[in-house]
Amino acid sequence: MVDDPGAVLAGRRVVLGVTGGIAAYKAVELCRRLVDLGAHVVPVLTEGALRFVGESTFSALASEPARTSLFDDVDPIPHTRLGRAADVVVVAPATAALLGRYAAGISDDLLTATLLATRAPVVVAPAMHTEMWEHPAVQGNVATLRARGVEVVDPEAGRLAGGDVGEGRLADPARIVDGVVGVLARGHDLAGVRVLVTAGGTREAIDAVRFIANRSSGKMGHAVAGAAARRGAAVTLVTTVSRPVAAGVERVEVETAEEMAQAVLARAGAADVVVMAAAVADFRPKAPSPGKLKKRDGVPEVVLEPTPDILATLGERKPAGQVLVGFAAETDDLHRNAAAKLDAKNVDIMVANDVSGPDAGFEVDTNRAILLYSHDRGLPAEETPLVSKGDLADLLLDRIVAQREKEPR
Ligand code: CTP
Repeated sequence: MVDDPGAVLAGRRVVLGVTGGIAAYKAVELCRRLVDLGAHVVPVLTEGALRFVGESTFSALASEPARTSLFDDVDPIPHTRLGRAADVVVVAPATAALLGRYAAGISDDLLTATLLATRAPVVVAPAMHTEMWEHPAVQGNVATLRARGVEVVDPEAGRLAGGDVGEGRLADPARIVDGVVGVLARGHDLAGVRVLVTAGGTREAIDAVRFIANRSSGKMGHAVAGAAARRGAAVTLVTTVSRPVAAGVERVEVETAEEMAQAVLARAGAADVVVMAAAVADFRPKAPSPGKLKKRDGVPEVVLEPTPDILATLGERKPAGQVLVGFAAETDDLHRNAAAKLDAKNVDIMVANDVSGPDAGFEVDTNRAILLYSHDRGLPAEETPLVSKGDLADLLLDRIVAQREKEPR
């Protein structure tokens, strides 16, 4: 949380996109708050928004008249100008339709064109009925946008239009302001920093068609890569999964622990930060069958052998000034087991996850973690609340930035 939001917002150009949902009236309050805090607010209203709120309300409150169309401006390309000049673009409320068009790269009005044309950070605050918010298509679009580095201010539970109660209500304007301030305060604090991230679970072949895998979805590692890219880092992501990544992230696809080890060890020497979020298999079949094992030949005896421990090798070879981060997935005795791994593998920060619960760890979009720091830093362990993986990624990057500031390089 930033202490003085006014200091962050003063003079910053905020494009405020408003789409056609009943919550559009709350964007009026958001606009007023941003202006009061010193931001230069440029409202962009979609056709849908104009059915709920008046253009003149925003024009009166904002720093510039509201824009509503790609074609009513003297400027033939208002979207590129708006997008280029913006320090941040905020969409509140963001309807399911807006999220879908943005995720798919469809620019059919001034707001979507501006979203595609901008390099500034983007904050979206979705609002819709619970059924729509929970629909896999909407959740998929939100996940795509998060992975590309978009900051999503999740909706709240409460009374919705028509008297229904449930999740989907636009976040309180104060929370949206916090989201905008957070994004602006972080800015490009990783500009010029080379970040290497791993994501996903490895697959170890038993035969030509079967493999040993684990439940890692790659969401956490992809969130770290997306957030680091948004904060200006040059990011390489070594991943086993085909999730979307933020523009500009170099993606290296691997499948096995051995391939991941080779890809990571070849690149780690040049990295300023290495985040091992992947769930690397500890064992693999010693002699995978090149063909498919047949049932008629009986139950196979699969002999396992250890895989290379990539993080331990990185810890041994760590160049001066590099920040090395590991993840520890545990089901018991989280703190102690993770602390032991932190020491054994010579890492700077260990993100300890309790993966036994339903809402944290593998596959889900949220996480709860304990951040442990190496002894020489003398920092106490830090427990996070249940947060989105995107927020945990940003918190981790905040700590990495703080360590780099202290570290002699
Ligand atoms: N890791 C790795 N190479 C391996 C195994 C794990 O680089 N062969 C990394 C993971 O990416 C993670 C950290 O080590 O950052 C901890 O992984 P985890 O599986 O929790 O720990 P292990 O050391 O494998 O211990 P155990 O499985 O016994 O809990």
